[in-house]
Amino acid sequence: MSAMPETRSPLAALERKPVRLLVNGEAVEHLVEPRTHLGDFVREQCGLTGTHLGCEHGVCGACTVLLDGKPVRSCITFAVACESRKVTTIEGYGDDPVMALLRKAFNQEHALQCGYCTPGMLATARDIVTRLPDADEQRIRLELSGNLCRCTGYVGIVRAIQSVLVQARAQGGLQLAAAAPVVSQHAAPMQTFATRAADATPAAAIPAAPAPAAPEAAAGESRRGWSQMQGSFEVDFPPERVWEFMGDVRALAACLPGAEVQEADGSSVKGRIAVKFGPISAAFNGAASLERNAATHSGMLRGAGTDTVSQSRAKGDIGYQLVALDGGQRTRVDITLEHMLQGPLAQFSRSGLVRDFVSRMITQFGLNLNASMGGARADQLPVQKIGLFRMLWQVVVARLRG
Ligand code: FES
Ligand code: FES
Repeated sequence: MSAMPETRSPLAALERKPVRLLVNGEAVEHLVEPRTHLGDFVREQCGLTGTHLGCEHGVCGACTVLLDGKPVRSCITFAVACESRKVTTIEGYGDDPVMALLRKAFNQEHALQCGYCTPGMLATARDIVTRLPDADEQRIRLELSGNLCRCTGYVGIVRAIQSVLVQARAQGGLQLAAAAPVVSQHAAPMQTFATRAADATPAAAIPAAPAPAAPEAAAGESRRGWSQMQGSFEVDFPPERVWEFMGDVRALAACLPGAEVQEADGSSVKGRIAVKFGPISAAFNGAASLERNAATHSGMLRGAGTDTVSQSRAKGDIGYQLVALDGGQRTRVDITLEHMLQGPLAQFSRSGLVRDFVSRMITQFGLNLNASMGGARADQLPVQKIGLFRMLWQVVVARLRG
């Protein structure tokens, strides 16, 4: 009698797992379910109730904490996705000189009433002061647009931040520079999800998905206010064919999940790209143009768009470089993405999960491109559209299985 095949329960991924974080400088480890968000983790597992939860949908910003020195909404950041990373809650600023100035300024400028929004507001204010030393009132308001306050009317909050910026400029920014957030030495390298993305691809009459190279989310900031990420994927066709395919902006856009081309003219394209994040749906309408260098097999797609609902604005430059593999039989496509998001959705652009999202998007694009070059029609592509929430969930499950 043959042995029963070993099966893995779909609920296995929901079992509680240990998560280790550095919270306010202290190493903590707790068992959590995959769905536990960072806000619940710090409040319920660590007893740090200074982090407030309002909407729990990523809208109000009350739950904002620092993750490796950058503000994130803890209600939509899964605790398991923060393994080995550094979290700072309102209880953890201690003698941080920027926060000391902000606390005093909030007090002097009457920047709080009930105080519910204040922990998140201070975390965002600290980010503005350290990241944008030249911010004027308009920019402060723009950056604050992801933090809602039902009491103050914002005037006092904006004034408080302005007054700290004025002090910083008067001091030549020295004290503030010393207090700039430092990425945790404990931070684990970003995991890669390429092969798992391929696992999740529905089997269909589509050429075998490639095993894309690791889309390592090497992130940084090149231009002020811009984030930079790098990634790559591999396709099963020679560089010449890939080069030819990538010269067709309409075909290229069709490989990007959620993208829709409205007009294409030579190297220019107009269209929209839709993403969904829990209750937030964004659809960026915009235009992009493609510049190519045949001698180096490289190109640059520059685009900009606006989400008409939230009025968030996005700009992005996507550079690519083809590299021959296996004696020219296959191709690796190296991608550099630089982007800037302004407006209410801006905070999402600085979270680690969004870096994962972009890495995964690059992988999905590679899968679609490979399938499309293999003859798949648009309705046969492995990834038709993508919801950010669904994708983030896939990211977490992939991490757990790892
Ligand atoms: S509670 Fe997290 S954004 Fe509202
Ligand atoms: S002070 Fe009450 S919500 Fe901001």
